[in-house]
Amino acid sequence: MSLAGIVRRIKDGRSNQIVALIGAGASTAAGVPDFRSPMGLWSDASTRELFSLDGFLAKPEAFWQKSSELFDGRQPTKVHALLARLAREGLLRRVYTQNIDGLEAAAGVPQEKIIECHGSAMRLVCSGNRSHAVDSGPIKVERSDAWTAPRCSCGALLRPDIVFFGEQLPVEFSRHSGEDIHECDLLIVIGTALSVYPVAGLVNRVPPLTPRLLINREAVGVWQSSESNPENYRDVLWKGECDGAADEFLKELGWHIDN
Ligand code: OAD
Repeated sequence: MSLAGIVRRIKDGRSNQIVALIGAGASTAAGVPDFRSPMGLWSDASTRELFSLDGFLAKPEAFWQKSSELFDGRQPTKVHALLARLAREGLLRRVYTQNIDGLEAAAGVPQEKIIECHGSAMRLVCSGNRSHAVDSGPIKVERSDAWTAPRCSCGALLRPDIVFFGEQLPVEFSRHSGEDIHECDLLIVIGTALSVYPVAGLVNRVPPLTPRLLINREAVGVWQSSESNPENYRDVLWKGECDGAADEFLKELGWHIDN
């Protein structure tokens, strides 16, 4: 089994319930850093602190400044474009994204096809009471000491609708993942270290005959031993840049994308 073999399955109509599981590596080509690479976000202790609920509540202005630096003006990558095209062709059952940058929807993946497992930094909710109606428009961060983080009309800070460490995943994750994984006839995992659960656990739940493709700079999860395992019949590792793989995928499928 190879990338070409996977593409053949798609062309033959044997894979049309594709589930994609993506992580930060899918967005690094857009300029958003990942977490665990040497220059990743977690290499800086103060950023790590800021991206916790306590860190956000203690320094909301600093959080929003960092958030705007990370996400403002980012454009979808070829990976996002590939996902959008798979959706348009009726082949994408769902994308489970760990990213909070909103680039799947920006590329044109329909919202109902996206499970934002760790939420979205593009939406705001009241930190005191999630049911409060808030104006969820983009925050205009000003680089001035006088600028203060936005608040709900109840007085509590507005927070990003993201899953801080230790918080529950959105209900959509458990609502859809059982059936999606059961029906999945091709799993494509892109740009993730697969070190955060429960999302990483999806890989082990797909049916035994479902091929699993990893596109990543290095082997992670089950792919760490797949190449040397003589009994491996379904796991494919495409080691390299995510956008390089997306290019190859698109070319093999005969799809052209202006991007
Ligand atoms: P990580 O930073 O842990 O892993 C990213 C993976 O993508 C690494 O294996 C990189 O080598 C690889 N990578 C980066 N850029 C790439 C590129 N251009 N081409 C190919 N591979 C590339 O990010 P995630 O696995 O997404 O959670 O992290 C999962 C979760 O950890 C995040 O959603 C976040 C964090 O804690 C929360 O904040 C709740």
